[in-house]
Formats: sequence, C-alpha cells, structure tokens
Amino acid sequence: MDLGLDGRVALVTGASKGLGRAVATELAREGADVAINSRSADALSKAAEAIRSETGRSVFTVPGDVSDAGVCTRIVADTVGKFGRLDILVANAGGPPPGGVDDFGPDAYREALELNLMSTVQLTLAAIPEMRKGGWGRVVAITSVAVKQPVAGLLLSNMARPGVVGFIKTISRELAPEGILCNVAAPGYIATDRVGSLLAARADSSGQTVEEVEKGITSNIPMGRIGDPAEFARAVTFLASEGASYITGHTMQIDGGLVQGLL
Ligand SMILES: NC(=O)c1ccc[n+]([C@@H]2O[C@H](COP(=O)([O-])OP(=O)(O)OC[C@H]3O[C@@H](n4cnc5c(N)ncnc54)[C@H](OP(=O)(O)O)[C@@H]3O)[C@@H](O)[C@H]2O)c1
Repeated sequence: MDLGLDGRVALVTGASKGLGRAVATELAREGADVAINSRSADALSKAAEAIRSETGRSVFTVPGDVSDAGVCTRIVADTVGKFGRLDILVANAGGPPPGGVDDFGPDAYREALELNLMSTVQLTLAAIPEMRKGGWGRVVAITSVAVKQPVAGLLLSNMARPGVVGFIKTISRELAPEGILCNVAAPGYIATDRVGSLLAARADSSGQTVEEVEKGITSNIPMGRIGDPAEFARAVTFLASEGASYITGHTMQIDGGLVQGLL
C-alpha cells in the first residue's frame, strides 16, 4: 500500500526517544520530512541525526516544553518556517508521575492537564490553520489505554487523557469536511524508558522483582508480551497517512489485546 506520505511534512512532539521517536522515524521512512520536539536539545539533535542517516529525509529539531502554550505555537511556526507547510501533527509528551489519591495536591493535577491535555489542544489549534492552507491534514494524539480502562496507580494519567479524546472526537466532526482527519492512538504497554521506570516503581512498591511485575502485566495481555515501539509507530503512521482517508474521530488501541471493552 502506498501511504501517500512522500513530500508530506510532519511535526512529532516528545520525540527524542520512545514512542514519539519511533513514530518520527517511521514517518520519515515513508517519505515525510519531520520536525521533532523534546525538552532536551542535545538528545533531540542526536535523535535527528539518527533518523536522518537511517531514512535520508530532512529532520529538523524544535526543542521546548509542550506544557507551555507559547512553546506549542512557536514550534509549529518554526516547522512551517523551515518546510513551508505542515500536514501532520503527532501530539505527544512524557507521562505524569505514578501515584494515587493520597499522593498529589491540586498543582500536580494542573501540571498533568498542561502536559497531557493542553499541549495537544495548543499544538492542534496552532497546526489547523496550516493544514487548512493545504486542504489536507492529519492530527494523531498519543494518549494511553487509560482512555478506555483506567490503569491502576496512574491517577494523573487516567484523569488527564480522557479530555484528549473528547477534544479530538469533537473537532474531528468539525474538520472532516475540510480534509483534516483527527484520531487518537492509545498504547497499552510498549517497551520504552517510561514503561521501564513504571515497572521499576511497581517493583519497588510491591516488593516484587521487575521480572515478576512484567510477568504479571504480560499475563493480562492476550498476545503475551509487551509491544515494540516500531509496532506502535506503524499504526500511528497509517493513521497519519492518505491510507487512513476514511477514518476520523477514532481511538485506536495498540495494546496486544489488553483492553477488554467492546469498543
Ligand atoms: N510506552 C507505553 O507503553 C505507553 C503506554 C501508555 C501511555 N504512554 C504515554 O505515551 C507518551 C510517550 O511515552 P513513551 O513511553 O515514549 O515515554 P518516554 O520514553 O518517557 O519518552 C517521552 C518523550 O517525550 C519527551 N518529553 C517529555 N516531556 C516533555 C515535554 N513536557 N515537552 C516536550 N517533550 C517532552 C521526552 O524527552 P525530554 O525528556 O527531552 O523532553 C521523550 O522524548 C507518554 O505520555 C506516556 O505516558 C506510553
């Protein structure tokens, strides 16, 4: 299948490592030029160099903290300044800290909303005018299976992410007539540093080894294993492509069958 990504321009945030980096790499492999973001300029430059040398595409870095609305506006503008257009936004950031009801005051909730909800809103609002110019666009927001089934011990994530689905679903209906399609990608357990540190934290608090914690998790995944970032990236790249031309307002789980709900 030709994904129709040749010559497209994508901005992927939270992309110096993990899921964002895997998505940026896959988009570039499929022919898109990409702008990548994270807070660490150094890590970002290294990731850009690796993606460039693997794919031969143009990779531009736009460092900054996407919790900050001004940064979201600036990195979209810088991407357009560099490539002259923006067709695809993959909105992603780090996850909030683990914990439950006794662990956080109001500031932590606000910070989680800035990090995992408002960043997606601000990036999308900044990107839409650019997509309108081309009469074509794709927004893919990276959330979590927590939008379908709360994850134990991740209260802040469970609280902040459902708002992303409400936002994306609503705007998807408004923007569909303009050729701008908006979807949500919901990862289950994919092998990244974030999952590594969550497993270590669970091992710490339960007195189990990391291997025992992982076994407990994979025993609930019908496919019996944690996913690879490249498997996640292929799904997101499809949603970001011409191939997904009749899909909008959808939340796609990439979870090896973990979520038990029907929809
Ligand atoms: N991996 C999974 O299985 C899984 C499952 C469910 C949900 N998720 C969610 O998916 C997202 C990505 O997960 P991941 O596993 O790829 O995490 P990760 O390995 O920790 O990578 C996070 C990336 O985001 C960047 N980042 C963090 N905070 C940022 C900010 N405020 N502004 C800009 N960039 C920021 C990090 O770089 P810097 O530190 O340099 O900024 C890094 O490049 C997270 O929200 C995570 O909670 C992941």
